[in-house]
Amino acid sequence: MSDIFQFNGAEGSGWSQPEPMIDGATDTIPSLLRRSILPRWPRASEPELVRHYTWLSHRNFGIDTGFYPLGSCTMKHNPRINERIIQLPGIDRIHPLQPEHQIQGLLSIFYEMQEMLEICAGMDQVTLQPVAGAQGEFAAIRCIQEYHSSNGESHRDKVIVPDSAHGTNPASAAMCGYEIVEIPSGEDGRLNLDALSAAVGDDTAAMMITNPSTLGIFEPEIVEAAEIVHAAGGQMYYDGANFNAILGKTDPGRMGFDAVHYNLHKTFSQPHGGGGPGSGPIGVKAHLADFLPSPLVDREAAEDDGSTGDGYRYFWRKPAKSIGKVQQWHGNAGAVVRAWAYYRRYGRELELMSEHAVLNANYLRHQIMNPDSDKHDSIHSMPLDGAPADVVKHEFTLSMMPVKETTGVTGKDVAKRLLDYGYMSPTLYFPMIVPECLMIEPTETESREVLDKFAEDFLTILSEDPEVVQTAPHNTDVRRVDEVLAARSLVLRKELDE
Ligand SMILES: Cc1ncc(COP(=O)(O)O)c(C=O)c1O
Repeated sequence: MSDIFQFNGAEGSGWSQPEPMIDGATDTIPSLLRRSILPRWPRASEPELVRHYTWLSHRNFGIDTGFYPLGSCTMKHNPRINERIIQLPGIDRIHPLQPEHQIQGLLSIFYEMQEMLEICAGMDQVTLQPVAGAQGEFAAIRCIQEYHSSNGESHRDKVIVPDSAHGTNPASAAMCGYEIVEIPSGEDGRLNLDALSAAVGDDTAAMMITNPSTLGIFEPEIVEAAEIVHAAGGQMYYDGANFNAILGKTDPGRMGFDAVHYNLHKTFSQPHGGGGPGSGPIGVKAHLADFLPSPLVDREAAEDDGSTGDGYRYFWRKPAKSIGKVQQWHGNAGAVVRAWAYYRRYGRELELMSEHAVLNANYLRHQIMNPDSDKHDSIHSMPLDGAPADVVKHEFTLSMMPVKETTGVTGKDVAKRLLDYGYMSPTLYFPMIVPECLMIEPTETESREVLDKFAEDFLTILSEDPEVVQTAPHNTDVRRVDEVLAARSLVLRKELDE
């Protein structure tokens, strides 16, 4: 099968339509508005059209196609029951402009989700408005900015980030007008408290950090770090992209954080990738709650009107000193409801999810870094072998530096070759502090068999002829592309033949 445009301009047509019932109906369209040349659309029958889209879908890689160990992105299985739930008429057949009394069911789901997110993060108030983690970061940092300003501390103009931070952290702070102060991690990849102490001051607005870090390492001194930042008058911001590692075990509130964002599309499942669709709610401690973006959902005891039957009336509320709206309508409702369904499924057993995610990451890391393997010396893993706590959380990084030095094969070559074996490439060259980095996150939804096979294939690649690896991928529809060109000059349209 090739694409549908091969049918372009073909004789005949793929559709049939009855003649208009009123004679001359089309004559009522003014000639000025009528086409003189027919559009050059493909003329295809329904089966041809179906085949076109099915063929297109197979050219893409997704979690439904195969193992997707994309570190930091938490690509887990999306239970199909969630799709059934969002298609219920009370959810998918409503309009955001409908009055509150007609959408009590959805509002009660939103309210419950806000509460569940508050509990799992140890925060006092959540809003579901932002539609991506990065947007959540921006919105929460704006709340912190307004908080300082309301305390007469607008002079605080610096945000501290560790050098292992995800790029969106400094970018979000910079969009709020802050200057970024980057602090180096210690030799073991962990937060360096001396570097933090040297960086904080009267001008510190906040510190942004994720725990476990992007190396998959838990920061045991996070409470001390929060004390240092708070003593200087700054706020602690938790990047919740790595929540999969800690849910039900600990929470950012307990670690001393004032504000967090959640990546619902990662932690609580949701088809995502390629830019969406996502949901990045934010949660804050009470002192920041008045600044949250609006609206959020609130409730009051009310006579039972028969809609939810729980004795409450739910309504939209604008926080007193809200930074305003960050998103049209009410955020990404579909993503919120899917995540709510996933969270509800686990309930108090949420920690099982994290335990399995962490177990899978450590198991896979051990299979790849197996000391008995003859490839053991071809890879390094952070924390570097021999470092004290040689256990990771939900993801781990590998440095392909040793293999590069001996054979010339780079981390990118290995990532491309994995595509030939039917896997999505791990995250590549991030975090930047690990040379020739591959970052792997298996998630809790993969079986031991999948992990064993991946480790076996990974090590096989390291034994292959370097040239085969360096010229990979060989079996994909699209071979190795110039990635800079592809990113800068996206070609998203197919020009029709003349
Ligand atoms: C650690 C971390 N922080 C923030 C983000 C940004 O989240 P989003 O892609 O939803 O904007 C990501 C995304 O990969 C991430 O991994």
